[in-house]
Amino acid sequence: MPNAKTELSREDYSDFRDFVNNRVGLHITSTKKEHLEHCLFERMSDLGHSSPRDYLKFIRDIPQSHSEMKELVNLLTVGETYFFRDYNQLNVVKEKILKPLIEKRNITKRRLKIWSAGCASGEEPYSLAMIIKDLIPYLNFWNVDILATDINHHSLEKAKAANYNNWSFRNTSERIRDKYFFAEDRQYRLIDEIKKMVTFNYLNLVDPCYPSYFNNTTDVDLIICRNVAIYFNRKTTRSIVERFYECLNDKGWLVMGASDPYVTDSRFKSKEFSGLYIYYKSVKPAETRFKKPLSQPKKPVKNIEKQTAKLSAIMPLKFERPEDGDQKMWDRKTKSAAYYLSGMEYFHAGEFKKALDEFHLGFKKNKIAAKCAYMIAKIKANGGDLAEAKKWAKKAVALDKLLLEGYFLLSMVYQSLGQDQPAIDSLKKTVYLDRNFAEGYFCLGVIYKKQSKNRLAAKAFHNVKILLKDKPAVKDIPELKGISYSKLLKCAEENLYS
Ligand SMILES: C[S@@+](CC[C@H](N)C(=O)[O-])C[C@H]1O[C@@H](n2cnc3c(N)ncnc32)[C@H](O)[C@@H]1O
Repeated sequence: MPNAKTELSREDYSDFRDFVNNRVGLHITSTKKEHLEHCLFERMSDLGHSSPRDYLKFIRDIPQSHSEMKELVNLLTVGETYFFRDYNQLNVVKEKILKPLIEKRNITKRRLKIWSAGCASGEEPYSLAMIIKDLIPYLNFWNVDILATDINHHSLEKAKAANYNNWSFRNTSERIRDKYFFAEDRQYRLIDEIKKMVTFNYLNLVDPCYPSYFNNTTDVDLIICRNVAIYFNRKTTRSIVERFYECLNDKGWLVMGASDPYVTDSRFKSKEFSGLYIYYKSVKPAETRFKKPLSQPKKPVKNIEKQTAKLSAIMPLKFERPEDGDQKMWDRKTKSAAYYLSGMEYFHAGEFKKALDEFHLGFKKNKIAAKCAYMIAKIKANGGDLAEAKKWAKKAVALDKLLLEGYFLLSMVYQSLGQDQPAIDSLKKTVYLDRNFAEGYFCLGVIYKKQSKNRLAAKAFHNVKILLKDKPAVKDIPELKGISYSKLLKCAEENLYS
């Protein structure tokens, strides 16, 4: 007989385990049975459910966005971590990956993008930030992006606060601790300079939402995903590693934990450094990268004013951003708008299947068809289904020729598919529609630079500089999570001068 208070019957255990596996993607092995039971009984007692069945029934019926789902996931995934965990491995990362990369990039482009996937309370990405700060003393001249993601909301909050107790320093020298932390109320507070280097975001690795421009998981130099695979079965780990491959740039690195399963994806090659295996992607670049540094255009770019002046005669220059449009639709309270609005609610709650249902219904209504098609395209793009994303983004702009965000999304999809010319055509439309659309010029610059069309690239980056020099610096770009206008400006300048 199971213990009434702390043990689950065989049936309840297997139902709860399957629920956690199917809804969250967390794999519970028999060794984690006790932990699962502990979490379930804690949630039951907090919510006042009298039996595991009751709680199971309740949790099966609630949507993914319900706060209880977050509470449960937070409990199930409490992750052990500390600064400079597996010191030897991090030393290999420093000496064999980051140091040579930084030396090389110092003379090409001063940019670095790292992703700590499954970062827990932040000790891992902050350790990497400290290593980079050691390697690059003049960080102001560089564009260093450290993205850190996790499924556990509590851990992410802790990571953002960056206050740690002694336990997090069990593998850290006092020298490092004193250099980068202030002692305060028996805790250690990380200095702002390191804190600012890392951006934390929620991301469930089981969701096929990466690679994506929208969560900044493309063109990554190094992915570090250590001690996270314990939460997944082999099949899930394999598909996560496949997606990591797509996130990395042509020479990107993948670092897994020493006790994680070996990477079996044959597209990855591995290198051994003192008994440690590090994986890397080795792809010959399809196109010749630019060779010469770009020179700045001598005169300010006159075309923007000219083109937009011409266009303003035939169409309004100020396009309606989604937020403004949503408000107007609310006000009108049309029936068709309801589909779009409830789709948006599901979208923001992360319930993409339900959001898609609403947008498909809304697509049948004339007034909102274009916006619904755009949202369908966005969900498809986020989920990595680029063919569908392309199809729906094309429908969106065919229905509304002024839908700037539609053209922008379409251009990103084309870029992801490696189709430069249609990407350029769509981007040109965005800057026709809004002469202040710096993001459009920036992406044009990137493609032209890739094609070695240096004069055009310089012109585009110069436009970004002009447009963003007075923009509030830290505001995030609406469509590009985690990328601020100041970062875009810095990238444009770096591209101009590299
Ligand atoms: C043991 S910690 C590892 C922390 C750090 N990488 C290290 O090695 O020190 C594992 C982390 O993986 C996170 N995790 C588990 N499942 C996840 C998922 N599906 N998506 C993202 N993170 C997940 C947990 O929340 C936890 O913070």
